[in-house]
Amino acid sequence: MAIIKFPEHFKWGAATAAYQIEGAVKEGGRGESIWDRFSHTPGKVINGDNGDIACDSYHLYREDIALMKDLGISVYRFSISWPRIFPEGIGKVNEEGVKYYHDFVDELLHNGIEPMCTLYHWDLPQALQDKGGWANRETIEAFGQYASFMFQEFKGKISKWLTINEPWCVSFLSNYLGAHAPGNKDLQLATTISHHLLVAHGLAVSQFRKIGEGEIGFAPNLEWLEPFSNKEEDIQACNRGIAWFIEWFMDPVFHGKYPEFLLDWFKDKGVTLSIDEGDMEQISQPIDILGINYYTGSVGRYKEGEGLFDLEPIDIGYAKTDIGWNIYPEGFYKALHKLKVQYGDIPIYITENGACYNDEVENGEVKDTRRIEYLKQHLISLKRAIDSGVNIQGYLTWSLLDNFEWAEGYDMRFGLIHINFKTLARTKKDSYFWYKQMIGNTWFER
Ligand code: NOJ
Repeated sequence: MAIIKFPEHFKWGAATAAYQIEGAVKEGGRGESIWDRFSHTPGKVINGDNGDIACDSYHLYREDIALMKDLGISVYRFSISWPRIFPEGIGKVNEEGVKYYHDFVDELLHNGIEPMCTLYHWDLPQALQDKGGWANRETIEAFGQYASFMFQEFKGKISKWLTINEPWCVSFLSNYLGAHAPGNKDLQLATTISHHLLVAHGLAVSQFRKIGEGEIGFAPNLEWLEPFSNKEEDIQACNRGIAWFIEWFMDPVFHGKYPEFLLDWFKDKGVTLSIDEGDMEQISQPIDILGINYYTGSVGRYKEGEGLFDLEPIDIGYAKTDIGWNIYPEGFYKALHKLKVQYGDIPIYITENGACYNDEVENGEVKDTRRIEYLKQHLISLKRAIDSGVNIQGYLTWSLLDNFEWAEGYDMRFGLIHINFKTLARTKKDSYFWYKQMIGNTWFER
């Protein structure tokens, strides 16, 4: 038996996002988002599910916060629904939406829970999408105005900010692979959007320096790829795959330039980046914190013509979660280590890590032992990274609640708390009790 112990003041938390939990999409003056449009388009989301009601946290947030308090988390990551603040994306402010988030944040603070706020977790106002969305540089300006408004309005209340959640998903998953809203399949478009997202991030950071208080960063997602062999071609193929998540988004932020080898690779595919004067300076302003979302990884091998990077994932038989993702805690450790080597000692928060297991309530209990096992494995990797000198300040599991898992709808459950999507009843899972105990002790036994 070994004791896995975390630093005394390590921050433990849980995360969610507005469209995935709030519901009440037509209440409180909220405008339409691209996810309302996408989820109501037949064939886009499994079972035709949508976020109209979700966990109804818009109405039930006090109950959710009481659960957070009982769980013992010190920080809660949530996102603001941009169309609740600016129903048209820009212009007239919706005071009811602003008041809603004030009430919500006040309730968190009242319960001693620190708010960590994501400004963009994918619910772009549809009105902006109608003008080209993130492909149009006007959306960058609109984001800057929305961000500035929020920094001013919540000064003194929210001191941890994340600009953009998972820019890889917003650009490539949504506009090249077509799986998420708005559902395009165009590599040039997706690559352009990836750049615009980074410029928008940089614009928000520069506004924050003028009017905000606290710490700001962004939350990229990463996956690890382990070369199938030590052949140079396998190593290079995996490096490209990893760089699509890591270097493509982090080199511009930390080093002010895109990785040359990927720029060349994209150029060979006929894709070019149009970078305006001042963009790279904007993108690369110093940030205070880095959010990291990690779930999975795999083994990869060079194969000509396979995917975007001549990279073939090999299923070597890893156990998988119910969403089909490999359980690969080793990649978590390796990725964190790579971040330290390449980007130094920026304070890191694990802004998401968790597992999809679709266990149901039986006799008032949810026996999600597999989730507990997943968490233990990943927390051991986290501890290895901490002991190796990676500057990790906190860990927020995904998710507090089962919720609307985007294109996968409600069948895929990531919560520590089970939601009955018919009655909206909340039931604490076994993983909730395990996490609560671990937070209380700051250690667990293995
Ligand atoms: C990434 C996203 O940020 C979150 O919205 C999603 O539900 C989880 N990962 C699980 O897929």
